[in-house]
Amino acid sequence: MPSLSASSTLREDDQLFRLLRQLEQAPEASQRVTAEALGVSLGTLNSQLRAAQNAGLIVVSNRPGPDRRQRFAYALTPEGTSVKNRLIDAFLARKFTEYAALYAELTGSASDFVPIKYRSNLMQSNLAPIPELYVSYESSLKLKTEAAELTSHDLTPRQVCDLELLMNGGFYPLKGFLGEDDYNGVVENMRMADGQLWPMPITLDVSEDFAAKVEEGQDIALRDQEGVILATMTVTDKYIPNKAKEAENVFGADDLAHPAVNYLHNTAGKVYLGGPVTGIQQPVHYDFRARRDTPNELRSYFRKLGWRKIVAFQTRNPLHRAHQELTFRAAKEAQANLLIHPVVGLTKPGDVDHFTRVRCYEAVLDKYPASTTTMSLLNLAMRMAGPREAVWHGLIRKNHGCTHMIVGRDHAGPGKNSAGEDFYGPYDAQELFRTHQAEIGCEMVDFKHMVYVQERAQYEPADEIEDKDNVTILNISGTELRRRLAEGLEIPEWFSFPEVVKELRRTKPPRSKQGFTVFFTGFSGSGKSTIANALMVKLMEMGGRPVTLLDGDVVRKHLSSELGFSKEHRDINIKRIGYVASEITKNGGIAICAPIAPYTATRRAVREMIEEYGAFCEVHVATSIEECEKRDRKGLYKLAREGKIKEFTGISDPYEEPQTPELRVETENVEVDNCAHQVILKLESMGLIAGS
Ligand code: PPS
Repeated sequence: MPSLSASSTLREDDQLFRLLRQLEQAPEASQRVTAEALGVSLGTLNSQLRAAQNAGLIVVSNRPGPDRRQRFAYALTPEGTSVKNRLIDAFLARKFTEYAALYAELTGSASDFVPIKYRSNLMQSNLAPIPELYVSYESSLKLKTEAAELTSHDLTPRQVCDLELLMNGGFYPLKGFLGEDDYNGVVENMRMADGQLWPMPITLDVSEDFAAKVEEGQDIALRDQEGVILATMTVTDKYIPNKAKEAENVFGADDLAHPAVNYLHNTAGKVYLGGPVTGIQQPVHYDFRARRDTPNELRSYFRKLGWRKIVAFQTRNPLHRAHQELTFRAAKEAQANLLIHPVVGLTKPGDVDHFTRVRCYEAVLDKYPASTTTMSLLNLAMRMAGPREAVWHGLIRKNHGCTHMIVGRDHAGPGKNSAGEDFYGPYDAQELFRTHQAEIGCEMVDFKHMVYVQERAQYEPADEIEDKDNVTILNISGTELRRRLAEGLEIPEWFSFPEVVKELRRTKPPRSKQGFTVFFTGFSGSGKSTIANALMVKLMEMGGRPVTLLDGDVVRKHLSSELGFSKEHRDINIKRIGYVASEITKNGGIAICAPIAPYTATRRAVREMIEEYGAFCEVHVATSIEECEKRDRKGLYKLAREGKIKEFTGISDPYEEPQTPELRVETENVEVDNCAHQVILKLESMGLIAGS
């Protein structure tokens, strides 16, 4: 007779369950009736009964039959009852798994249906499935067709990241973009209107024009940048946020040096829309698909491997030996498995791109003991909000099935404020996390500052080294690492892994091999184009990188022929130049731009675009307006004075002089060749050109 053992087959389990249930329901039935009910022969029934009796699952007693023939009565022993219950549980769990698999096959997402019993008895809460906002596959097809009629909002890259985590449960318990009451609560005291802890405003910012097209109560379609519909949202709230207050409360200061504050004021729309989201499909990612997991996928992975405690390591930087050591120690300390959980959505401007980082992480993953560690990519748009960000990261990690998270010194720090000071204290994030730890549902493992002790050839926590004065402590800061990479200098083996250094060098060649942009600005006729041409020839003589000249006149002919000279048109023109230059820079070329570019803010925007990929060298060609007018090489100043050309820079339109350009060249009584040579020297001092 089969019993519920590791070796029993499903069929045997099924037979045993049916037998026990039948005996429980009709303990005094004749063997013939029981055999019929079970659909087996009398012989089979007898052998099953014997096996169950021998296994201690049933007891058999005699009872007198009406015709004095011997009859038997059957009763389940406590062991029999418990085996029967375990068989029911196993049966239902199997059915649930089949249901979940079928659901996933049909809809492409995990089902959020979990029988209460399995939530409480069979799974730890961090491993039970978490609710998602997706509808079923059939509904999504229907919704997609219906949504074609709806007013559409094209999501920004940041909003796509937010939406993905809203839909897949990464931002649980949020059900959509924040309405006004929730937003006010989150900004003021990190709590939603119903009191739940949530530190980060997840808002759908839109332009005033778009907001004017939307009424409260209306459904709108949310599309990615290619126009693919990802979700619909029922707009319950339309409100104008107090951005200065949001900046102060959430980011600690209304200071544009903070990347998220800068985004808030200069990128985010003026109006916020709030309301519940209905998920149609996940944003598509073509890169590292196998490494991306939804919270439910991670939870089920942990369940499958039997991982009960999981410590998450949040990172936006490549991992070096110190990180490996600290994560390893953190996992040991928490007696947990380790999840390397890097952010691949949006991080701090200037960070190493995620493609490079993921290749680096993959190289490092091999260095961890097998089967203790895994890596998954998180498509989060970070805000660099230090303490609040740490709490937010904790909630997100809890949602991804983690029980612990490593919180470091200056977690998610945004760098210096406009007064040159840190935005947050180094341990503010740890403190805030600690205060809310129980509510977050994820325990903090505080980061140890690891340093290399040369004599012992190993990393140790800085605060645990007792013989500090007698040993050599080595460390390379992030800034120093960037300098060494930029200058092609040695990066020692004790600091990083050769595979990681190789990847970093591939993406970040030394400055003298990177692309860059030289951006001339100055009045019409100041000599920008002439110097730019001379510079181009000199750079071409040196060779090594392709050089492109984007001269003001030439650009206006080929790129901006429809534009005039209003402020708006000049800005569009300069941003187009900036875009082309940034592409050239990104691909390792040299872009030389020579427009008037009269406005500081636009020049700054171009600088930001380019510095993402390489150096930006602003050269102010400081020829005075009087001299330009005197030269009047194109006869335009005369026409401007006569009012025949309107909005002429320096005559009837403003020119905002650069305050801190990389270089200012005077052209009066100076040869063109000399001016171009000054630029070459500047580029050399910036490390952009070097001997072979
Ligand atoms: S801007 O402001 O940067 O968009 O201007 P830019 O693209 O460099 O174009 C400047 C050239 O256009 C001619 N031009 C004028 N310049 C200034 N103001 C007005 N109103 C204007 N109308 C025509 C002029 O030849 C400029 O060329 P450069 O090479 O600067 O002399």
